[in-house]
Amino acid sequence: MNNNISPITIAIDGYSSSGKSSMAKALAKKIGYRYIDSGAMYRAVTLYAMRNNMVSPQHEVDSEKLIAALPQINIDFKVCEDGQHTMLNGEDVEKEIRQLDVSNNVSQVAVIPQIRHALVAMQQAFGTEKGIVMDGRDIGTTVFPDAELKIFVNASAETRAMRRHKELLDKGQQSTYEDVLANVMTRDHIDENREESPLRKAEDAILLDNSNMSIEEQDKWLIDRFNEVIAK
Ligand code: CDP
Repeated sequence: MNNNISPITIAIDGYSSSGKSSMAKALAKKIGYRYIDSGAMYRAVTLYAMRNNMVSPQHEVDSEKLIAALPQINIDFKVCEDGQHTMLNGEDVEKEIRQLDVSNNVSQVAVIPQIRHALVAMQQAFGTEKGIVMDGRDIGTTVFPDAELKIFVNASAETRAMRRHKELLDKGQQSTYEDVLANVMTRDHIDENREESPLRKAEDAILLDNSNMSIEEQDKWLIDRFNEVIAK
């Protein structure tokens, strides 16, 4: 392998709970790249909206109020011993943003074009020097359309819900499989059908269905794709 190769940009998109974040994180660690979880940014904005009474119990978002509050919302990432934590206005919200109540509102926040524009600009700023792995829904299509390596991950809704349910239980959070499956399916629907940069595979992305893959298998698959690109 040529060790003097210039860093590249890696975009990993896919459906909710498809395991894209774990793959992206493992790859970034292995190759010494920065990892950015774009979904965490949408989740942090959602938490801000929920805390400031901008989301109704029926998941309706007061988009005008939220757009006006954007200058007051600062999102960053902090490297901690157990990985990267999401910071909202200086507060570590990593645990809170993963809870099901945030998941139940995040796709409604993520449809708002002005919110997307603000977050996409921040995501692009993180990537100016390349050497980055970013995961999300629109990274290969909108955030980094010129990324040298693009992956699109999917697995059946049931497999994804099972994985997320187990993850929540492992973290000591309350959840039932049925609630998680409903959330996964609702978010898929909203993400695929929104007008602004809907969830879809970029034409030049490599499709991965990891329904029947172990974590080790998918990590190896991804590193092989990376090695192919940098060998070119
Ligand atoms: O729960 P999961 O890891 O699958 O999702 P996430 O990556 O944390 O993203 C949460 C939600 O944010 C998604 O369901 C989308 O509605 C939204 N999102 C988006 O619209 N664009 C992105 N680039 C990333 C996330």
